[in-house]
Amino acid sequence: MEPPTYALGFDVYGTLVDPLALAEPLQALVGEQAVAFANLWRTKQLEFSFRRGLMQRYVDFDVCTRQALRYTQQALCCELPESDHDRLLEAYLYLPTFPEVVASLTVLKAQGHRLVAFSNGVEASIRALLSNAGVLPHLEDVVSVDDIRTFKPDPAVYAYLAQRTGQPLGDTWLVSSNAWDVIGAKAAGLRAVWVKRQPEAVFDPWDVEPDVVVSQLDELPAAFARRA
Ligand code: LAC
Repeated sequence: MEPPTYALGFDVYGTLVDPLALAEPLQALVGEQAVAFANLWRTKQLEFSFRRGLMQRYVDFDVCTRQALRYTQQALCCELPESDHDRLLEAYLYLPTFPEVVASLTVLKAQGHRLVAFSNGVEASIRALLSNAGVLPHLEDVVSVDDIRTFKPDPAVYAYLAQRTGQPLGDTWLVSSNAWDVIGAKAAGLRAVWVKRQPEAVFDPWDVEPDVVVSQLDELPAAFARRA
């Protein structure tokens, strides 16, 4: 029997590209606080998007990222000049991919799956980022929550992904390293892969389980083939 084929929506930050790689350029600006800075910046970016979604006070993800940067430099007492903000936000468009990404997308596409990016990010920013990283040509489309002006994990954004791929909810998959994103997709009726990139990562104990767990994307073709 032929293995089933699906529409796969790939989360971007943390799944295809690594936002914590910003610790490297941050090293020159904030020294030994670089890793803590990159982590807090990412945490606050997400928190701001969650809160804006709940409050129904949408601004786009680029604004969340910029405001989270302002927060982080104040919280860590290392205020940076405006020119450094601009440089760091520019670096956000040049984040590196995880090493296995392109080869894995190539195999998944050859298996007949339909591959799209699915992100909180603004479409133009995601296209620039994925193009700079050499990933864009391996994807069929970029689906951004910005079109409907709310953020993951609002169920509306997962329904929007399925609508854009033209597949039923149950044949649409989210592939994400973010446990909260996986739970959001499952709650909305999609299926989901959790990419457990760090062995010590904990899946939120919400009595919801991912359909598939992999530690890297290159395990996904075999995991899907096993579902035949
Ligand atoms: C995204 C972030 C939330 O790409 O990881 O949607």
